[in-house]
Amino acid sequence: MTAERQPAREVGSEALSREFLRVCEEAAIDAARTMGQGDRRHSDHVAVEAMRKEMDALPMRGTVVIGEGERDQAPMLYIGEKVGQGRPEDLEVDIAVDPLEGTNLCATGSPGAIAVLAASNRGGLLHAPDCYMEKIVVGPGARNAIDLDAPADDNLKAIARALGRGVRDLVVIVLDRPRHEKLIADIRRAGARIKLISDGDLSAGITAAVRRTNVHVVMGIGGAPEGVLTAAALRCLNGGMRARLVPTKPGQEERMHRMGITDVKRIYTERDLAPGPDILFVATGVTDGTLMRGVRFFGGGIRTSSVLMANRRRMIRFVDTVHVGDGEDTVIEF
Ligand code: FBP
Repeated sequence: MTAERQPAREVGSEALSREFLRVCEEAAIDAARTMGQGDRRHSDHVAVEAMRKEMDALPMRGTVVIGEGERDQAPMLYIGEKVGQGRPEDLEVDIAVDPLEGTNLCATGSPGAIAVLAASNRGGLLHAPDCYMEKIVVGPGARNAIDLDAPADDNLKAIARALGRGVRDLVVIVLDRPRHEKLIADIRRAGARIKLISDGDLSAGITAAVRRTNVHVVMGIGGAPEGVLTAAALRCLNGGMRARLVPTKPGQEERMHRMGITDVKRIYTERDLAPGPDILFVATGVTDGTLMRGVRFFGGGIRTSSVLMANRRRMIRFVDTVHVGDGEDTVIEF
C-alpha cells in the first residue's frame, strides 16, 4: 500500500482536505460556466452534478447530512446519500453541501456565489431540516455578546462594546426580504449601517467572522442548511452564532421531531450546530466575493480561489489554484 492510499484518520487531514478542495473547485468551475445565463436551476444542477461526481473518488465512507433535500425530491446529494469509495477501512465522514450557494447570484452574474461543503466525523454536524433559521453571526471579538431573544438595539450595543467601537460604526448584513422589514427599521433606528443583500447569508456570515472585511454582524432569517454550514466555518474562524429553527410550512415541525429535534424553540450556538471535534470547511468562489474571487477562464486554463479551513489543525488556507489545460502552449498568468 502506498503512502497516498493509507486511509485518512482525520477529516481535516492533508489528504482528505486536498480532495475536498478539488470537489468544491470542480463544482464552482461548472457553475461559473453558466454565469449570467439567467437559469438558476441549471446553474445549481451542474454544480450538484460536478460535486457528486468528484465526491465518489474520495477515500471515505461519507454520508450527506445536509444536502439537496429528500431522496425522492433530489436526484443527487440528497440527505442520507452515501458518497465516497466506501471501503471498510475508510473513515466515516458526515458531509454538508451547498454546491451552489446563491443560485440567483450565479444566474445573474452578481457577486457572492460560492460552492461550499463542510465535513466532520460522524455526528459532527446537526441534521437540520430544510426550513428557515433565525440567526445572528459575529466574529471572535463579539462571540459572547449576542442574544437571539434581545432586541436588535441591545445586540448592536453589546456587539459595539465588545468590538470597542460605536453602534454607528457597525455594518450589519441583512437579507433583503419583506420578513425583515421590522428588523431593518430597528437596526436603522439603532444607528448602525446596513448592507442589504439579495442572497447569500452563508458567505455573509463568513465575512462577518473575518476582521477588516468591514462587516461586523449578520442578522435575520435565512436557510437552516446554510446556518449549519456557517456554524462549521465559524468553528474554524472562532466566530459566534445564535440560531433558532423557524418552521413555516406544514409538516416541518413533525419532520424536526422525526429528525430527533425535540425542542423546536431551542437556541443553538455554533458549537451546537457543528459540534464535531474535527471539522473541515471548504468554499470556492463562483462569482467575485469579498474573500474569494470568482472563477476565471483564460486561454487554456482556469483559475479558482478558495478558502480551506480545518479546526483541529488550526489551519486556514486561502488557495489560489491554476488548473492548467492540456497542451504545451498554455501561458500561465500571474
Ligand atoms: P440558494 O443558493 O439556494 O438560491 O439560496 C440562497 C439564499 O439567499 C441563502 O443564502 C439564504 O439562506 C436563503 O436563500 C434565504 O431564503 P429565501 O430566498 O427563501 O429568503
